[in-house]
Amino acid sequence: MSIRNAIRHGSKTLRPWFNTKTGTSLDFRIKAANGCYIYDKNNQPIMDFTSGLMVTNLGHNNQYINNHMKATIKSGLTYFPPSVLTDSRELLSEKLINISPYTNGKVFYTSGGADANEAAIYFAKHHFKDTPTKSRILRFDKSFHGGSTYISSYLGGDARRNEKLNHYSFELNTDIMMPNPSMSDNGKSSIEKIEHLIHNEHESIAAILIEGSSGTAGCYVYPPGYYTKLETIAKTHNILVIVDEVMSGFGRTGKMFGFEHSNGNPDIITMAKGITNGCVPMGAAIISEKISNDFKEDIVNNGLTYSGHPLACAAANACLDLYDNKLLNHVQSNSKNIKRRLNYIKISYPELVKDVRGIGQLYCIEFNDNNVYYIHKALLKKGVYTFFRDNNLYIAPPLVISERELLITLEKLDQVCFNIWNAINYQ
Ligand SMILES: Cc1ncc(COP(=O)(O)O)c(C=O)c1O
Repeated sequence: MSIRNAIRHGSKTLRPWFNTKTGTSLDFRIKAANGCYIYDKNNQPIMDFTSGLMVTNLGHNNQYINNHMKATIKSGLTYFPPSVLTDSRELLSEKLINISPYTNGKVFYTSGGADANEAAIYFAKHHFKDTPTKSRILRFDKSFHGGSTYISSYLGGDARRNEKLNHYSFELNTDIMMPNPSMSDNGKSSIEKIEHLIHNEHESIAAILIEGSSGTAGCYVYPPGYYTKLETIAKTHNILVIVDEVMSGFGRTGKMFGFEHSNGNPDIITMAKGITNGCVPMGAAIISEKISNDFKEDIVNNGLTYSGHPLACAAANACLDLYDNKLLNHVQSNSKNIKRRLNYIKISYPELVKDVRGIGQLYCIEFNDNNVYYIHKALLKKGVYTFFRDNNLYIAPPLVISERELLITLEKLDQVCFNIWNAINYQ
């Protein structure tokens, strides 16, 4: 195939998570982006109603971030090994510690969210290195913590992998999935099951991994007191708490981090996505003093070539200037509008909508049957891009979306739901 044809038909790129049967609606080409919009090849604006994959919290093409990145390019320092200090990386670590609950924590950088979580697991397991039986990681049913493969470093022939051997020996049985909480019983049944599990098996559990606010699983909101109870149960049994803020961090829920809704005090916080607004890939794990103390003597046998890349640090330093209280208040105000309209949609189209859930600007509509695909497709025809998974359609626009843009797009969503509900009932 000629190069021109290959480009036109997109035949040489294996798209991640791409479903050839349902993914055909994604066969439009994006040529540019600005603010809350992406632009197709005819220069038609499409509202990016899920911030890509809940990444571009500050909108596309943000000039303040671009200028920071340009200054770094101009300095010539666009790469150096991560074990060497740079001012920009130190500044970023300082800023991240300042927004964390720790005074003497440290920051470990990665290239994205999956490896930030893997690093967190490494730190947790290293913390219990003298108790190798304490090796399991509890996580929630349907949760998503990354799409890479955990064994990449074990596959190598590098002698340092021997130190990691026991890191890969933990069980990943389905019995260690924690059930998501339900609002209907204020999370009681979920917490009881988790408490029972931990009570019986705490000697084999190193950490619980929980999202700051549930995302891909279906935006299950933690009922009041739920997270606090979980943290207390874990700490009582000498189990570490790792909070994954990859999706829920950086203002997405109306607070800087999701766990702040419960005044949480986890041992490790992982992040990615909004940390750079997606301009350059970056992930990070902020570790508490308790965990960082483990490395006063021990070597950090972990790391990536691009950990804390200079361009990513430049973008992240700019982003952290922009995540301020004004923006967080704006998200909280937008959240009320989203919640009101989604609840209206749920009540109006019960045959179509099973449930709506969320917080801040991280919501989802769970549809009955496979209707989500038709809704997604119809929205695209109306110039609205959304991400969907299973039967859930996500509503997670850039945090900077104006109230007017938000209301107009919610109106389009309502119209699309009405049309499909009408077709179901009166076909
Ligand atoms: C909660 C959560 N953790 C981790 C990840 C993985 O991040 P990445 O794709 O940057 O590896 C994601 C991605 O969507 C996520 O939502």
